[in-house]
Amino acid sequence: MNFEPLLSKLFSRGVTSFDHDFPDFFGYRYATEMGPEKVIEVIREAGLRGRGGAGFPTAVKWDYCRKASGSPKYLVCNADESEPGTFKDVQIMMYDPHALFEGIGIAAYAIGARQAYIYVRGEFDLPARIMELRIPKAHISMQQVQIFIHRGAGAYICGEETALLDSIEGRRGEPRLKPPYPAECGLWGKPTVINNVETLTSVSKIFRFGLDNWKAKGTPKLYCISGDIINSRVFEAPLGIKLRDIVYNYGGGPLPGRKVQAVFPGGSSTAPLRDDELDIPMDFKMPDGKPGIIGSAGTIVVDDSRCMVDVARNIMRFYAHESCGKCTPCRDGNALVHDALNDILEGRDAGYAMEYIERMIPRIFTDCFCPLAKGAMNALGAIFTKWRADFESHVFGSGCGRKRIG
Ligand SMILES: Cc1cc2nc3c(=O)[nH]c(=O)nc-3n(C[C@H](O)[C@H](O)[C@H](O)COP(=O)(O)O)c2cc1C
Repeated sequence: MNFEPLLSKLFSRGVTSFDHDFPDFFGYRYATEMGPEKVIEVIREAGLRGRGGAGFPTAVKWDYCRKASGSPKYLVCNADESEPGTFKDVQIMMYDPHALFEGIGIAAYAIGARQAYIYVRGEFDLPARIMELRIPKAHISMQQVQIFIHRGAGAYICGEETALLDSIEGRRGEPRLKPPYPAECGLWGKPTVINNVETLTSVSKIFRFGLDNWKAKGTPKLYCISGDIINSRVFEAPLGIKLRDIVYNYGGGPLPGRKVQAVFPGGSSTAPLRDDELDIPMDFKMPDGKPGIIGSAGTIVVDDSRCMVDVARNIMRFYAHESCGKCTPCRDGNALVHDALNDILEGRDAGYAMEYIERMIPRIFTDCFCPLAKGAMNALGAIFTKWRADFESHVFGSGCGRKRIG
């Protein structure tokens, strides 16, 4: 099939920083004249932190990998983007792929890698094709790095960086024990940097438009907003904007006649907040130094028409389905908690189900192997505590009577 007409249409609608017919890779040329150490210094000075969810300082990871002794080194771009509520990376792949390629070229240069993999979520067929068509032009301007597209098969766990490496190596994607960290022992046992699509695209922006521009824009960041909201969208704004601003200004607020009931700030793995708790910054750290709420910046709004027990069940269905099965607390725990939520909603021994969930949340959280089930328990734990009345109405009364997804 000829995708070119469709691609031209897509590009003509997108906001791009590159001319897609004549990509100049100016940022890459600028960076490679500086020397790798200076490139890492610029990224450190920019204060860039990973946009995949963990918020790890990018320069620290690059520096560690650069100094690691193994060879060859690899750069891997995490384009799995499977966290519910997050759909920013796919926009970059579709509308601004050259910015991503440029970031990959700069990162590979900084760490001393000559091969880079873009691990694309299995469902992202069109973005993968768009990139496949554009890579040859990138290779002409950035001859020191070879970029490969590797398609996943649609598994949330393969977004976890070490499971992703297993998947590229042809194995079933399961998280690895850390340490050793990938920067020291990653793809095929070699030093590897794994960075998110937006992180690498930010690198391109820093070198293309300059550090001053980056700082003047307040460390620009992509945010997603979706759910029971007027405007579902992706937008760019400074890091640290208020969550209330995202919901009420960028998202346009709840649908007519409805109120905001719960907001998952940074994807379904983050603890939901009530409407009166939204005046906090979307950042990697809170003003008091506690961990921030930004996650993968995929804000999901739930309005007051919905049953929060049903919301919890829906979330747990996802995590139970996506567990890779490597560890028991996640494989069996998530599924059993999902069944217990079903019991509450269907009035089957609901009192026991409540007790069971209460006991399981801290156990799964502390005993699971990787952050997948921790994320599930973050969300479930907050719903269970803050929307207790919803649970009790199902256990002790005739239910909350609100909408269910089923
Ligand atoms: C279950 C799970 C799923 C993840 N999914 C993604 C993902 O889809 N995309 C992503 O960039 N990072 C994802 N991560 C985070 C990665 O493990 C890793 O921290 C990230 O790719 C590092 O890149 P960064 O430093 O640029 O953020 C996930 C982590 C976990 C535990």
